[in-house]
Amino acid sequence: MKRDFTSILDLTKKEIFELFELSRNIKHSYKNRIEHRILRGNTLAMIFEKPSLRTRITFEAGMTQLGGHAIYLAPQDIQMGKRESIADVAKNISRWVDLIMARVFAHKTVKELAKNATIPVINGLSDLEHPCQIICDLFTILEHKGSLKNMTIAYIGDGNNVCNSFVAAASLLSLSLKIATPKGYEPRKEYLKSARTVQVYNAPEKAARYADVLYTDVWASMGQESESAQRKKVFSKFQINKKLLALAKKDALVMHCLPAHRGEEIAADIIDGAHSIVFDQAENRLHTQKAIMIWLLQKS
Ligand code: CP
Ligand code: NVA
Repeated sequence: MKRDFTSILDLTKKEIFELFELSRNIKHSYKNRIEHRILRGNTLAMIFEKPSLRTRITFEAGMTQLGGHAIYLAPQDIQMGKRESIADVAKNISRWVDLIMARVFAHKTVKELAKNATIPVINGLSDLEHPCQIICDLFTILEHKGSLKNMTIAYIGDGNNVCNSFVAAASLLSLSLKIATPKGYEPRKEYLKSARTVQVYNAPEKAARYADVLYTDVWASMGQESESAQRKKVFSKFQINKKLLALAKKDALVMHCLPAHRGEEIAADIIDGAHSIVFDQAENRLHTQKAIMIWLLQKS
C-alpha cells in the first residue's frame, strides 16, 4: 500500500529514526560528492497554494540531485478546487508522475489529495502541520547535540502548524517540549491530549528556563496577514532575545524555521548570534526531504 506523509502522526517512532538514518547517509553522499541518483527517472509534482523559498528549492534541487525531476505548479496554474476538483487533480497527477508534494491552506486539501492519489503525497505545509520542517529540525538537533534524549525544547510563540507538528513528534518520541504562547494561541487540543511530555505555559520565561533549544516561528503565518497588527500586540512579549536566552542552558541552541521577522519573534542579535543554528536547519531541509522522498517510494 502506498504511504503518505501528511502529518508527523503518519509515522511511528521507529520510522522517524529510519528517516534520520537515511538523512545522515544522503547528507554524507552529497557532502562527499558521492553520486546518489537513487530516484533516477522519478518525477515529483509540487503544488503550491502559498509562497515558499526553502520548501520549493529543497524539494526541487533534492529531486535533481537524486536523479529525478520536479515540476513546480504555482497557485494560479492548476487552481485546485476551482478549475478542477482536488480529487480529479490527484487522479490525473497519479497517472503521470511518482510523488506529489503540496503546500496548501486547508489541511483537508492535502488529505483529499492523499485519499485520491495512488502515489505518495507529502504535506509541504498546511494550516495544521508542517511535518517536513519538524523532521528536519529534530535531525538538526540530533546532529548538534548527539542525541534527543534528555533534551528540553522550548517553543516560544504561536501554537501554529509548526508547533502542532512539534507536539506530535514530542508525543511519539517522548521529548520534553515546553511551549509558551499567549492565552488563546495554544496548539491544537487534539494534539495535546496524548502528549504527556508536553507542557504549555502562557509566559515565555517558564518555557525557556534550563532549555537546551529555544525555537520560534512568525507571529502571523501565511494566510493570517490581516491579523498581523493585532498579533504584534498580543505576541509582543513572546520574543527570543538576550534576556530569554540567559534563562536557557549556557550551550542552548536557537532555532527558527524561517522566514524570520527580526525584531518581532526573534531579536536580530540572537538570530545572527553564536547560539543560532537557523542556516544549518535550513540546509537540512534538503537532506531530510530527499530522505522522505526515497523512504516513501521504497515503502509504497
Ligand atoms: N520553512 C519553510 O518552510 O520555508 P518556506 O516557507 O520558504 O518554504
Ligand atoms: N507558520 C509559518 C511557517 C512558515 C514556514 C506559516 O505557516 O507561514
